[in-house]
Amino acid sequence: TILVLDFGSQTSHLILRRLRSLGVFAELLPCTTKIADLTWKPKGIVFSGGPASVYDNGSPHVDPAVFDLNVPILYGCQEIAWRIDSKNVARGEAREYGHADVNITKVNDNVDRLFAGLGDAIPVFMSHYDKLVSLPTDFVVIGATTNSEYASIAHKEKPIFGVQFHPELEHTPRGTDILRNFSVDICGAQANWKMGDFAQLEIARIQQLVGDRSLVIGAVSGGVDSTVAAALLKAAIGSRFKAVLVDTGCMRLNECEQVKQTLGEHLGIDLTVVDAGELFMSRLAGVADPEKKRKIIGSTFIDLFEKEAIRIEKEAESTPNSGKVEWFLQGTLYPDVIESLSFRGPSATIKTHHNVGGLPERMMNGQGLRLIEPLRLLFKDEVRAIGRQLGIHESLVNRHPFPGPGIAIRILGDVTQERVDIARKADHIFITKIKEAGLYDQISQAFAGLDTNRSVGVFGDQRVWGYIIILRAVQTKDFMSADIFDFSTEFLKDVSRTICNQVEGVARVTYDLTSKPPGTIELE
Ligand code: XMP
Repeated sequence: TILVLDFGSQTSHLILRRLRSLGVFAELLPCTTKIADLTWKPKGIVFSGGPASVYDNGSPHVDPAVFDLNVPILYGCQEIAWRIDSKNVARGEAREYGHADVNITKVNDNVDRLFAGLGDAIPVFMSHYDKLVSLPTDFVVIGATTNSEYASIAHKEKPIFGVQFHPELEHTPRGTDILRNFSVDICGAQANWKMGDFAQLEIARIQQLVGDRSLVIGAVSGGVDSTVAAALLKAAIGSRFKAVLVDTGCMRLNECEQVKQTLGEHLGIDLTVVDAGELFMSRLAGVADPEKKRKIIGSTFIDLFEKEAIRIEKEAESTPNSGKVEWFLQGTLYPDVIESLSFRGPSATIKTHHNVGGLPERMMNGQGLRLIEPLRLLFKDEVRAIGRQLGIHESLVNRHPFPGPGIAIRILGDVTQERVDIARKADHIFITKIKEAGLYDQISQAFAGLDTNRSVGVFGDQRVWGYIIILRAVQTKDFMSADIFDFSTEFLKDVSRTICNQVEGVARVTYDLTSKPPGTIELE
């Protein structure tokens, strides 16, 4: 395993992804991690970039014990140089941002290994203001750009390398080769991490953790994360895993039925459906404030889930030879883990996210349940790969994300059954048309929502005062920022016509042209 120490760069996780794409397993921890707390010895360490200047008071620094591990280190030109002498780093005259060519200087076989096979110059992506102004003692230059004399340096004897550029970015086309040279050739890490092995190892780990009697309970939503997590649990402990689906009444058209089929029938998971649409509707009646809606849905969800958990516990207690419910499954992914580990603290709350499963603090403490998180080391595309491997149908594996509060946060203003039904039908038409046009996989997330206002329309010779549908479709890699999808006008006209003709009560259809930022992906 390679340890990536995170100094807070937006691209730290990409270092991990590049390494894993090479088959090298890597873990990300905050740069301030105490080496004595590690339970494993890394084969090598990579420092990410970061927004802070190494010389500012209060900037994060690595535990000096990192250097006593005597394993190869890459990156953090500035951190390495600053440690040796703080005068080595200063603010450059100009910010260097964008493309640059690093001219490679050959020194000797030992230090040349980092850029082996890359020729004389490598196009790279730079993003820095501070730079090295002098060469740290015992280091040699292995690469320079017109702006940075010390764009890459290496220790004369020890396997310590510093690069000022970002090898993890797409715009450093040979970056993956540099990471391979470092992790495989220099650190001696094995390039044998495969998703296939991951599923088998995780199933064995779950079996060991849970033992051969205890039961595990978990919420499922029909989304890819909870389905894959549930399928792993089912593979590990069979019917000792109890899945609960709370139907909030705000799911998509026919979704509840589909989940029953996929999880219950196809994957053979022990699934209980709590049919609570009416309860959610009654609690949401007259509430237009988005945060209030989220809180109501979140707390109603957890009330119902908790009740179901108690019922399942009682049932287990009265069943001869049954173990007790001792574990709670949560589909946490690696980006959430990274976020919660960050030494910068949690980011500002734009919206209260209702992640099914993120809520049962009360249950964890009250009922003494322990947490099981089989996906906590994975990124979304890795979860999808495992899903495929476990035989989950492609249509589910590739499904656009759907938020916990569902359609309720796509309906501006009051949530009523009538408005939910209209948004659902319009959404179904929009998504079906997208699929028929072969565009579904090019779009990251698409849906139809409903405006607060009504609008006048004319149907036949009749004046109607109808609802306004808002179509939204975005493309994004990380869901932090997004561009709208460029449909042809013909396509949009067809969707509009079909919705107006088939969904009674709709007088107008609009397409949301707002990117994120400033708009968010969901309407609320
Ligand atoms: P926004 O609207 O914040 O959405 O741009 C970014 C991504 O997060 C999803 N989202 C949620 N997911 N519970 C969830 O499980 C929520 O409350 C929630 N709000 C937004 C959204 O669908 C998009 O993928």
